Amino acid sequence: MKDNVDEAEESMDSLVDSFFDLLVRKKLQGGIKEIAEELAAPRIEGVCTVGMGGSSIVGQIGIALLQDSSPVPLTFVRDYQLPMFVDEKWAVICVSYSGTTEETLSAYKTADARGCELFSITTGRKLGSISDPRRTHILPKGIQPRAALPMILAAVFPLMQCLLGQEPVNLDPLVKKLKVNRKRMLRRLRKPEELAKIIDNKMPAFIGWRHLVPIAYRAKTQINENAKAPAYSLELPEANHNEIEAVSAYTSQSILPILLRSRYEDSQTESRFQATAKILRGEGINVETIRANGNSKLEEALLIIQYLDEVSVKLAHIRGVNPMTVPQISLLKDILGGKR
Ligand code: PA5
Repeated sequence: MKDNVDEAEESMDSLVDSFFDLLVRKKLQGGIKEIAEELAAPRIEGVCTVGMGGSSIVGQIGIALLQDSSPVPLTFVRDYQLPMFVDEKWAVICVSYSGTTEETLSAYKTADARGCELFSITTGRKLGSISDPRRTHILPKGIQPRAALPMILAAVFPLMQCLLGQEPVNLDPLVKKLKVNRKRMLRRLRKPEELAKIIDNKMPAFIGWRHLVPIAYRAKTQINENAKAPAYSLELPEANHNEIEAVSAYTSQSILPILLRSRYEDSQTESRFQATAKILRGEGINVETIRANGNSKLEEALLIIQYLDEVSVKLAHIRGVNPMTVPQISLLKDILGGKR
C-alpha cells in the first residue's frame, strides 16, 4: 500500500490487505479526547452515532462492543432524523467519509439545533465546513468509504470509550496480534477466494450474535457494494423465531447460511447455533462456519470483518465487476439531486 492514502488511488485488494495497518494510520485528533473525557458520562446522558453505509457500520460495532459496559444508552441513526430523546444532554458523533451525505448532514443540523454535544468524523467537504474544528477528526482522503472502516474505527471507537468514561483502546499493539491471528485463522478456514467461489450464484445469509451482529451486516453490505450481489444478514436468537421456518426454501432459493461464531458465546447461544446448524443440515443445506482466533471481542470482530471483506473483493473478481465503483449509488444520488 502507498504511504499516503491521501493521494493514493488504491485497489480494493490492496486496501483490504492493508486493513490492519489502516487501524494505526491516524489516531484520534489532538484535543478531541480531552473534550470527550471532560463530557464523559454521567455528564452526557447518551451517545448517538450517525452515518450511512460504510460510514455507519463503525458506530454499530462500537455500540455492540460497548453496550454491556456503558452506563448510559447508546443508539445509532441511519436516517435524516434523530429520535426525540436525543437532546442537549447527548453526545452525537456524525460520520461521513465524503462529508456530503445528505441524511448525515440533516441529522447533524438537527443535533446542532438541539444543542447536542457534537463530534464529526470526515474527510472534509460540507460536514467538515459546518463542524467545529476542535471536535472534528479529519480522515485521510482518497479511498472508498467502506474501505476506510479501520480509519473510522480508530477515531470513533476511542471517542465513544472516552465519552463513556472508559480508557480508550491502544490499537498499536493490537495490529501485530491481529496479523498473527489472521495467519492462524487462514490455516483453519477456507481461503477467501475459495469461499467466494462457493458464494458465487448463491445468496449468502450471514448469521451473527451480539457483537457479531453488525459484522454479519457489514458482510452483507460488502457483498452488495463490492461484488454487486445480493446478500442478507440475520441475528441469533431472533432468527430462531422466524427465519428458521424458511429453511425448507433455502435450497430452491440458493441460500447459503454462513454462521459467525464467537468464543464469547454463552451456553444458550452455543446450543442455538448447534441446533440451527442441525436443522439446516437435516434439510440437506450446506452450512459454512467462520470463527476467529481473537483474544477480545474487538479482535474477533476485526478479524472476521477483514476476512469477509476479502471474500467480497474476490467475489467481485469472480463476477467480473469493479469493487471500487458504486454506479447505482452514484446514479441514485444524481437522481435525488435532480441531475438526471
Ligand atoms: O461505502 C460506500 O461507498 C457507501 O456505503 C457510503 O459509505 C455511503 O453512501 C455514505 O457515504 P459517506 O460514507 O461518504 O457518508
